[in-house]
Amino acid sequence: DALAIGVDVGGTKVIAGLVDAGGNVLARARRDTPGRTTEASVVEDVIVDTVTEIQRTAAVEHPSRPVLGVGLGAAGFVSADRSTVVFAPHLAWRDEPIRDRLVERLATPVVLDNDANAAAWAEFRFGAGQAEPRLLLVTLGTGIGGALVLDGRVERGRHGLAGEYGHMQVVPDGERCECGNRGCWEQYSSGRAMQREAREMLEQDSPYAAGLAAYCDGDPARVEGHHVTRAARDGDVAALELLGDVGRWLGLGLANLAAAFDPGRIVVGGGVSEAGDLLLEPAREMFARRLTGRGHRPVPPILAAQLGPSAGMVGAAEMVREEHRG
Ligand code: BGC
Ligand code: NA
Ligand code: ZN
Repeated sequence: DALAIGVDVGGTKVIAGLVDAGGNVLARARRDTPGRTTEASVVEDVIVDTVTEIQRTAAVEHPSRPVLGVGLGAAGFVSADRSTVVFAPHLAWRDEPIRDRLVERLATPVVLDNDANAAAWAEFRFGAGQAEPRLLLVTLGTGIGGALVLDGRVERGRHGLAGEYGHMQVVPDGERCECGNRGCWEQYSSGRAMQREAREMLEQDSPYAAGLAAYCDGDPARVEGHHVTRAARDGDVAALELLGDVGRWLGLGLANLAAAFDPGRIVVGGGVSEAGDLLLEPAREMFARRLTGRGHRPVPPILAAQLGPSAGMVGAAEMVREEHRG
């Protein structure tokens, strides 16, 4: 009945959890992610801090259960040997040998993977992707994360860098992306995208946006994705429109991915997916309209991630367990 610690290092928050063999989260810790311009070591300090908190909880509440190690799902490009975050659009890390640095500081085994790979693994083992031999997952958070699970293993590509769907270009000369390019998919379908669109709408001071303004104290600079989701749930028309736009962009990108990979099932996770069908219905509609060969092929279902925002840390913890088994 050993336990493992999973950590999800996202663009806005670091969440850690104590996870059992069934993928259940027994304890959690959360911190804000230091900004992109802070020193890389500060992100590392925050990780160590959350892990230490979880270790303390584990020692008090589950003193007889061993903790096998730490799994890290990071929002960035991870090297093929899974030791290094080579690039992370939303983090300060550049060629950061984070696995060994954490082994040194925490004196415990550490497994590293991309955050969306970890989330896909959790959904495959415990959630909406179970028993699917060809599972495609995207996470909508700060950016868009992606992963393909083929015949029970995460497809990592030749250099570890497969699944960076968020940086497919969908608008030539579109919005500038933190990766350096323009028009990346994640600029149109992510938490950041929704925030940018909401802010623009609020800055115009249109009466149409008055309802939404109430959710962020009338300050466009303070609006966040979850304000939009909450307003949409309460029936606010402007918020519903914003979620609809993000959903339609989601459906379009997924149709492109289906053309390339022909998945049996598509799972959508990440913070934005908490909007549920308010996001997924517009996505399904657009997907059905853009899918190549429609009318002559099965349409893969688009499902919400069952583990929600915990998927990344649960998957990372499960990877530790598997590494331990060898
Ligand atoms: C990064 C991915 C990450 C995703 C979600 C993207 O911008 O390139 O590596 O998985 O954001 O966090
Ligand atoms: Na990935
Ligand atoms: Zn990009």
